[in-house]
Amino acid sequence: MTSSQSKGNSGAADLDPLHTRKTLDDTGTRIAIAGHPIHAMLVAFPIALTVCTLGADLFYWWTGDAFWARAGLWAIGMGFLMGLAAGVSGTVELLLVPGIRARAASWTHFTIAVALLSMMGANFGLRLSGYEQAVLPWGLLLSVLCLGFTGLTGWHGGKLVFDYQLGTVGKGN
Ligand code: HEM
Repeated sequence: MTSSQSKGNSGAADLDPLHTRKTLDDTGTRIAIAGHPIHAMLVAFPIALTVCTLGADLFYWWTGDAFWARAGLWAIGMGFLMGLAAGVSGTVELLLVPGIRARAASWTHFTIAVALLSMMGANFGLRLSGYEQAVLPWGLLLSVLCLGFTGLTGWHGGKLVFDYQLGTVGKGN
């Protein structure tokens, strides 16, 4: 006899105490278009534009062509704004859905994402008072940091969806 049988509980309840509270099964997306989460649609932009920013910085370093410094300014600026939009949609989802709000992993994702958005904001702000001078070395270094944190945030967001099924299933759908 297993320990869970001897206590008269289900195995799932032993593994995750949240299963004992039915309201926390509600993990379905609320901020969505026809059931498709808006957050998942928006995050592609900051992810791709952070890669573009680092690419533009490296090309500026290599060629010295001001075009790449200007491209970097636009890439990080649009990446930051779209990242803020993604952050707002994710935060509303986090606060509205009981099954998402109750899970520690959601708050870990929130914390890493806010750190990322602060770095993207700093990287953008630095370039506003002279986009060419800003690239070497601080703009480039910030772009490397932003890309590292984008990887962490995106990977962890994927964990929420694929490991915990947050924003996908549940009675909220
Ligand atoms: C700042 C506050 C943020 C909060 C509260 C938040 C919250 C969430 C939540 C609750 C999910 C689960 C799916 C859903 O309900 O839509 C999720 C997924 C995800 N998040 Fe965030 N997020 C934030 C910012 C970001 C940012 C800035 C990025 C981009 C780097 C990001 C990348 C992702 C990714 C890639 C997924 C998986 C999407 C999928 O594969 O469907 N998140 N996030």
